[in-house]
Amino acid sequence: MITLALSKGRIFDETLPLLKAAGIEVLDDPETTRKLILATNQPEVRVVLVRASDVPTYVQYGGADLGITGKDTLLEHGSQGLYQPLDLQIAKCRMSVAVREGFDYAGAVRQGSRLRVATKFVAIAREFFASKGVHVDLIKLYGSMELAPLTGLSDAIVDVVSTGNTLKANHLVEVERIMDISSRLVVNQAALKLKQQPIRRIIDAFAAALQQPTAP
Ligand code: ATP
Ligand code: PRP
Repeated sequence: MITLALSKGRIFDETLPLLKAAGIEVLDDPETTRKLILATNQPEVRVVLVRASDVPTYVQYGGADLGITGKDTLLEHGSQGLYQPLDLQIAKCRMSVAVREGFDYAGAVRQGSRLRVATKFVAIAREFFASKGVHVDLIKLYGSMELAPLTGLSDAIVDVVSTGNTLKANHLVEVERIMDISSRLVVNQAALKLKQQPIRRIIDAFAAALQQPTAP
């Protein structure tokens, strides 16, 4: 049995075409079923639904053989025990620093003031500000980061941005772009050795699908 860990929502949705290219069809709709283990048209392949931030953990410890996870989540978790054969170019966004409209971010950084930064991505934020030599107090949040500068909890946030609509709706502005983000296929290294053939087949089918020109 090959087990693939996916999270509901954009990662599941954007993975479906890749699975299809590998001849794999999921037999349940994650948005309507209460099941967490989903069968596919291939009796030897199943999908498990986990929280996006739990995908690397499932794959690292062998709860799943493969998984698909954002680069952001991977950097926060660490890549120990994980083989990363492919950047799938899905769930694309960027990791950025944002502040309230009118906040003098450049001035605060120039003056060397200690910046309060709220984020779910503490490892990425710590590394980024350390590389700039900016002193920060990091405040760990689990969601709704945009609220932090509006309520005085922090001066800045580090969060993912795609269209920029969420920032705009909350009167925040992007002041630094930390990195581009997309999702990766991650594989349990022991499973790759033990189940080499079926796992290779999936990796190769995904890789071939990525080479296909996208429809106009
Ligand atoms: P969790 O449920 O564990 O808190 P999450 O809510 O971040 O995680 P998703 O929203 O499904 O989970 O995001 C999955 C991945 O998609 C993220 O790790 C990131 O790489 C990417 N992503 C997040 N927001 C966007 C966005 N607005 N547009 C495109 N990709 C995004
Ligand atoms: C993410 C992120 C931002 C938003 C950015 O939230 O936390 O709030 O996307 O996207 P935008 O620039 O296109 O507005 P998401 O939609 O994943 O909601 P969630 O974190 O509550 O799942």
